[in-house]
Amino acid sequence: MSDTAPLILGIESSCDETGVALVQTREGELPVLLSHALYSQIEMHQAYGGVVPELASRDHIRRVLPLTQTVMAEAGKTLKNIDVVAYTRGPGLAGALLVGAGVACALGAALGKPVLGVHHLEGHLLSPFLSADPPEFPFVALLVSGGHTQLMRVDGVGRYEMLGETIDDAAGEAFDKSAKLLGLAYPGGPLLARLAEQGDGAAYKLPRPLLHSGNLDFSFAGLKTAVLTQVQKISAVRAEPVEAWPSTLRADLAASTQAAIIEVLVKKSLAALELTGMKRLVVAGGVGANKLLREQLNAACATRRVHVHYPEPHLCTDNGAMIAMAAAMRLQAGQQEAARAYTFEVKPRWPLDAISQAV
Ligand code: KG4
Ligand code: ZN
Repeated sequence: MSDTAPLILGIESSCDETGVALVQTREGELPVLLSHALYSQIEMHQAYGGVVPELASRDHIRRVLPLTQTVMAEAGKTLKNIDVVAYTRGPGLAGALLVGAGVACALGAALGKPVLGVHHLEGHLLSPFLSADPPEFPFVALLVSGGHTQLMRVDGVGRYEMLGETIDDAAGEAFDKSAKLLGLAYPGGPLLARLAEQGDGAAYKLPRPLLHSGNLDFSFAGLKTAVLTQVQKISAVRAEPVEAWPSTLRADLAASTQAAIIEVLVKKSLAALELTGMKRLVVAGGVGANKLLREQLNAACATRRVHVHYPEPHLCTDNGAMIAMAAAMRLQAGQQEAARAYTFEVKPRWPLDAISQAV
């Protein structure tokens, strides 16, 4: 690398957010975020009720270079200052991943700088290291994104052991699908959470799947079915669709749904801490922005003298900063080397514990 404070550009394009960021690494210290820029495609996909992969890929193409220019200008750097170009290699939508990988490799080749493919979930997992209260290894991680719900034992960068995961829908998916049933727009997780603030979480008795399963696995598909059944029942009695319900009714069902999801996440996280004997919990991924989850985890962990770490709320959902950070931390830890090989193969399906071995 060119100097003692290498610059790493990170590009995220695995789903419906184009994110670009620049971090600087210093020996013996945590990497520092210099600038980051994000373009969310949510509005474009809303018309379809979910992400349309082909539209996502095309939009990433439009956004990635202007965003790169923005982060370089904000950091007062030029492309020539970049030492490593990192990108999300997977998991995610194949076409969307190809855009980030293609741009990163082209930039690397043009600048004569090495490139590094990063695991998207490792980005989420390490994103709390960008916060004002960064964790220390080892810790238990609760990874709750739109596509994944996992509890991991984390002993260091690249040292990930799966403790439990969802056997069907992810927590974010449960939020989004329930929100859709309640007539909310895509992605409904944050909207359902907001509506829930006005409701009573005990109004409807919804299932807490696998709460007493004795292991650390999750299952949320049944909860979504229970919400659907409840919506159908109420709509039949009222003879009107969910959109016409009084807002308190919708808020009560939203709050009950949220309460069910959060109770399972909190109880399983506590069980993972007990199993491992660890006193540190890291929460990452989009659902990590949920207020009730944070309140309940903070309260439960305070009585157990467990310290909980979160990413900054705006870095919970997908972003380039977490990708640049994960690359920087992998390089610092000597887990991986950036390479001047500009061929690439994205990995739409890629288990996180697989990168504990060679990538
Ligand atoms: O990590 P992320 O940006 O994407 C994936 O890698 O999948 O997470 C997106 C997920 C969506 O399901 C979204 O509804 C959910 O995170 N989410 C929330 C909140 N903010 C985002 N769910 C509940 N409460 C929130 N405040
Ligand atoms: Zn994500």
